[in-house]
Amino acid sequence: MTVRVGILISGGGSNMVTLARSMTGVHPARPCVVVSNNPDAGGLDRARNMGLPAVAVDHRSYGKDRAAFEAALSEAIEPYGADILCLAGFMRVLTGDFVGKWQGRMLNIHPSLLPKYRGLDTHARAIAAGDREAGCTVHEVTPALDDGPILGQGRVPVLPGDTPDDLAARVLKVEHRLYPAVLRRFAAGDRRPVILRQT
Ligand code: GRF
Repeated sequence: MTVRVGILISGGGSNMVTLARSMTGVHPARPCVVVSNNPDAGGLDRARNMGLPAVAVDHRSYGKDRAAFEAALSEAIEPYGADILCLAGFMRVLTGDFVGKWQGRMLNIHPSLLPKYRGLDTHARAIAAGDREAGCTVHEVTPALDDGPILGQGRVPVLPGDTPDDLAARVLKVEHRLYPAVLRRFAAGDRRPVILRQT
């Protein structure tokens, strides 16, 4: 039975593209829908160009009412029958209610070596701390922000003189290798972490 994967984005969707492209051939999963909280997200057109249904649910229409936003999000996803959700640069914090419905079936990619640097500005924080190594983590989503069982990590060096943008670009390349590798394993029911060697 094919596992159906919904992908949630907020921006350019480069992780979404690598995930969607990876799901071909003997892969246990297929992408079923891409949803963005931002109607202007470049990733929506990129998804459509790959022949995927792409839907916007604008969080701004719901003001502070997170429950109403999440109800609309659920409604948008529902017709596509997703078994797994992948958050790929999805920049909204989800409530415990929503997370609870998807517990054990929702993944996120975060641009740091968790448990270091939860939240935003991870690259600037790694540089400011003098870290010699940075990276990214794919984890199961639980109600606590950027927490939950780690399903994979990829590492890169922090080089002398790196700006946050330099480091972000280096880490993003590894995100594009890590997330598809984790999803392939996870969709096959294997939760052992994928550890990529430093590149
Ligand atoms: C990635 O670095 C992701 O880890 C972070 O936002 C970026 C999204 O990039 N949270 P994209 O939209 O996948 O290109």
